[in-house]
Amino acid sequence: MSHYGTDLAFVHDRGFASFSERAAPFLIELLRARGLAGGHVVELGCGGGQLAAALLAAGFEVTAVDHSPAFVALTRRHAPRARVVRASAFGFEPPACDAVLAIGEVLGYTGPGGTSASARRRLFARCARALSDGGLLAFDFATPALARTAGRRHFAEGPGWACLVETRATGRRLERRIVTFRERARGWRREETTHHLELLDPAELTAQLRAAGFAVRRLPGYGSQPMLPGRAALLAVRRRRLKSTSARSKSRP
Ligand SMILES: C[S@@+](CC[C@H](N)C(=O)[O-])C[C@H]1O[C@@H](n2cnc3c(N)ncnc32)[C@H](O)[C@@H]1O
Repeated sequence: MSHYGTDLAFVHDRGFASFSERAAPFLIELLRARGLAGGHVVELGCGGGQLAAALLAAGFEVTAVDHSPAFVALTRRHAPRARVVRASAFGFEPPACDAVLAIGEVLGYTGPGGTSASARRRLFARCARALSDGGLLAFDFATPALARTAGRRHFAEGPGWACLVETRATGRRLERRIVTFRERARGWRREETTHHLELLDPAELTAQLRAAGFAVRRLPGYGSQPMLPGRAALLAVRRRRLKSTSARSKSRP
């Protein structure tokens, strides 16, 4: 199931892509500082492809993944040299790579039935297998603190579009009802969708990542892009594999 149809993807692309655009220079510098310049980056939940385009321009190879056909089409337009895959982050098997990025609450999205902790653990294990030693997994997510802001209504607008958002929290679940209006040749088109997000606990995710083979630290933001209230970001570094372990165990009687 995709959370972003054509109009909401358009609205996100026009009105909300600045978050990943502002995060891009920091992420690129982080990769370079860790000796990963020119490496292969897998971006999960690539949205309109703004970060993918910045990574390509900085000399990285990019595989961009999103489960929304509308976003896949936008990424192909904004980042034509990326390998773009339509898939769920939770089912995708990442190729061998140097970094996995999931920017903009990507890993918190669920269906009404939820995404289980075991699905996230499997995702972290797949990333750990795909990443080179010292490779990075960076992502942000909505935390239980965001529930405090639930009940509020927001709106945003730009040329030819407007968007109304209402949130509701139940325990660790956040529901975001989004109404978009988009100007068409014969008037305005109204669409409505509801996103379900799981509010994720940074300490629980940190423990899951450590168990999967990562050293983990919290990021206050992505450089000049601070984390928005009620959100957190983690930087997980793939620990070195012990190369001799399997050879030793094979030679044991
Ligand atoms: C808030 S948008 C962020 C988009 C982009 N990363 C950015 O920062 O502009 C969340 C993105 O995650 C994608 N997404 C959510 N759940 C996903 C999943 N399970 N698999 C793949 N993409 C997912 C959505 O389609 C959307 O592109």
